[in-house]
Amino acid sequence: MAEATKRIGILTSGGDCPGLNAVIRGVVKSANVHGYDVVGFLKGYEGLVDPVSYIPLNNKNTAGILNQGGTILGSTNKGRFAATVGVNNRVELDPELVAGVKTTCEQLNISGLICIGGDGSLAVSQQFHEQGIPVVGVPKTIDNDLSSTAFTFGFFSAVFCATDALDRLHTTAASHERVMVLEVMGRHAGWIALYAGVAGGGDVILIPEINWTFDNVCQAVLAREQRGKKFTLIVVAEGAELPGGELVTQERRADQKQVRLGGVGNIVAAEIERRIGKETRTVVLGHLQRGGAPTTFDRVLATQFGAHAVRLIIERKFGHMVTYQPPNMESVPLLEAIQLSTVCPDCSAVQAARALGISFGDGCTDLPFRYTPPEDSAAEPCSTNGASKTQPRTADLHTAVN
Ligand code: F6P
Repeated sequence: MAEATKRIGILTSGGDCPGLNAVIRGVVKSANVHGYDVVGFLKGYEGLVDPVSYIPLNNKNTAGILNQGGTILGSTNKGRFAATVGVNNRVELDPELVAGVKTTCEQLNISGLICIGGDGSLAVSQQFHEQGIPVVGVPKTIDNDLSSTAFTFGFFSAVFCATDALDRLHTTAASHERVMVLEVMGRHAGWIALYAGVAGGGDVILIPEINWTFDNVCQAVLAREQRGKKFTLIVVAEGAELPGGELVTQERRADQKQVRLGGVGNIVAAEIERRIGKETRTVVLGHLQRGGAPTTFDRVLATQFGAHAVRLIIERKFGHMVTYQPPNMESVPLLEAIQLSTVCPDCSAVQAARALGISFGDGCTDLPFRYTPPEDSAAEPCSTNGASKTQPRTADLHTAVN
């Protein structure tokens, strides 16, 4: 009797990022070497059931995708599998939906299903695993906010984009002696802002993990003026709460289960202009950070993730996610993998930034110039002198499929 075809399924879920195609290619090549067929489910988890939609993947139709942004399989961060995240905010998936997924996997003879996603998507995988569906996870997100891996793929590509933006803003800021505010993504983690700020010569970096005040931001701008630097580059993470603790969000549409962050950059710019009369402009980088080709680092990382995900399937290590723990590729249970990681205010990158005189808006720098706020400025919470926030997120923020 002919042996049944060994088959691996793969899908890309949540917000896209550079490197998804590199993982797909890595999986296909490695799977073929080990004698597996591969099918790719379309539009994330949606393609798994009602209606099942997938395409066969092979060396031919994945050739040339290593350096392509986006995902050839499509993805979604909403739909029937959304709102199912967070270790502490778990929402149960519809059991019928999960049963349907299981049937699909059995009917297609899937030996292992590789789910490429962020915390929200991997939380869905965890529920699949609990129902006996053979899943393995691959950590994806530009936000770099998964705790068990040193880096997620996509992160450095986003940082590259934000750094390039800062390089460009630098020259125009200098020419016009302006303050330029760059708002970057990252949800409730300040990794993109921190790394881009350091790489792009930012002067002020505002992140969700460090409390900041407008007084301190203005003081940093004026201190630069005093040193003859007539322009300032400010990088602000979209999730950086205002000094009063408010998160700046966009209006949420009915079909959106998660809050959309955005707008803090404009508020920061307006307040700087109002307080010190310095001409200020804002750039919201937005989805440019998610598009385009992956950097070389992300290509290597994504390719390794792909190959190691196949290895996990061969070893039948289901319910695990591949992780990069330099210099090795390891794996951790999905339950551990979906813990969020945010910037530690004492980490070496923050320390180095401070050593260079970069301000985090928390008054933790030895500035020679004391700024006196205008009398009509609303009283701000006192500078926290570098105190970190222990709870940077609210419950609502866990309802994402990233
Ligand atoms: O999680 C990735 C991310 O790009 C976040 O940085 C950002 O807040 C969010 O997704 C944007 O989502 P959407 O594509 O739905 O606007």
